Amino acid sequence: MKSLKVGIIGFGTVGTGVYKVLKSFPNIEIKKIAVKDINKKRDIENFDLSLLTDNPYDIVSNPDIDVVIEVAGGVNPVYDILKTAIQNKKHIVSANKELLAKKGSELFALAKENNVIILYEAAVAGGIPIIMPVKTILSANKITKIAAILNGTTNYILTKMAEQNLSYDVALKQAQELGYAETNPTGDVEGYDAAYKIAILSTISFNKKVDINKIYREGITKITAQDIKSAKALGYRIKLIAMGQLLSDGKIDVRVHPMLVAKKHLLAKVDNATNSIMLSGYPVGDLVFTGAGAGAEPTSSSVAGDILVLASELETTSNPLPQTICRHNEIAEQIDIGDTYNEYYIAINASNNPGTIGIIGTVFGKHNINISTIMQNGINSDNTAEIIVITELGKEFDVQNALKELLKSDGINKIDNLLRVMN
Ligand SMILES: NC(=O)c1ccc[n+]([C@@H]2O[C@H](COP(=O)([O-])OP(=O)(O)OC[C@H]3O[C@@H](n4cnc5c(N)ncnc54)[C@H](OP(=O)(O)O)[C@@H]3O)[C@@H](O)[C@H]2O)c1
Repeated sequence: MKSLKVGIIGFGTVGTGVYKVLKSFPNIEIKKIAVKDINKKRDIENFDLSLLTDNPYDIVSNPDIDVVIEVAGGVNPVYDILKTAIQNKKHIVSANKELLAKKGSELFALAKENNVIILYEAAVAGGIPIIMPVKTILSANKITKIAAILNGTTNYILTKMAEQNLSYDVALKQAQELGYAETNPTGDVEGYDAAYKIAILSTISFNKKVDINKIYREGITKITAQDIKSAKALGYRIKLIAMGQLLSDGKIDVRVHPMLVAKKHLLAKVDNATNSIMLSGYPVGDLVFTGAGAGAEPTSSSVAGDILVLASELETTSNPLPQTICRHNEIAEQIDIGDTYNEYYIAINASNNPGTIGIIGTVFGKHNINISTIMQNGINSDNTAEIIVITELGKEFDVQNALKELLKSDGINKIDNLLRVMN
């Protein structure tokens, strides 16, 4: 059996996991590993330090290496490094969602030109196999909808807020102490990470290039303990949902925002750091993929899987996995959030005056928004009350206009939150 010679760029959480898994496969030869700081202590048994380099070009320009595994992260300098690798005819396996969401178009075009492939199973939902299934066995389908929990950190925080009645700040602090959230949590809690993943997943599912900059994105930082409590009382859980839909006119609706998810919905039952992807297509119908979306071991399962598939293909052909080549040139026409239709949860702070609920009903009615539920959370010590409204399906643009008008009405103090609802 011919061995596949690989170089690994990055030797952190994922890189060390991948190293540990791949070293037990006799047909995989790890030639070199690039790191940033060559003097950092590496806590791995029997590790041959001469494998390390602090120059990634030792890997991408090495004629003896067939495949580059990129698990360093970020766009710079990795983008330039991988361009060199591709120009030097190396296949790429990457876990880097940010790079693929921002620079995927350029990298895939370059890969096609150089007759190499880029595999990236680990970039979306860590250990869950979703990229390869969509590209291969599901390719007969017209996929029309994806609704997913793609970020473990935010799901962990929202789960703890719901289970232990914690504020966002306390739940975030606990998640940081337990290693579920980074010291700078912005990429996760503001929805960037989920947006990168849904950009990649929507692009391959709908066969149209989705622009990361046109994805509506809202994180979980404005969710209060009171929102979680009100959602519970109404039969919902709050989750950060990444969504992609192919609309009947061919346009695409891609977004990331927190949603009230009905308790009976499968995604409402996905707790802690677990990820889950619901995908609907014809002829397959509805599918659900659930599992660990991060961590050294689950993620290395996907990276190593890509490597082993590639190794077996390269045994017999110099054109491996033609299904994985990017073939779509069409740019997705992405709709603005204002043009989307949703059911809404709106938390309104109002003075405890007679007629307030009537005002809310009148203003919403004027803007074509039907209310399906209205609930008041008692009366505050300052004689104000939080009124929760759940609407029927309405256009975002109309809802936003209704709220602007509402804020000019007597006794309406502020809109505490607006969230969309999934039943
Ligand atoms: N962590 C997860 O569970 C997970 C899951 C799915 C996907 N991913 C993705 O996998 C990638 C790696 O994540 P990670 O959590 O393993 O990150 P990490 O623990 O921070 O490790 C990053 C590694 O890359 C090395 N590195 C950084 N810049 C470099 C450069 N310019 N040249 C050479 N090496 C460089 C670092 O070197 P030093 O060791 O010397 O600092 C470190 O070994 C990211 O794209 C991430 O989004 C991660």
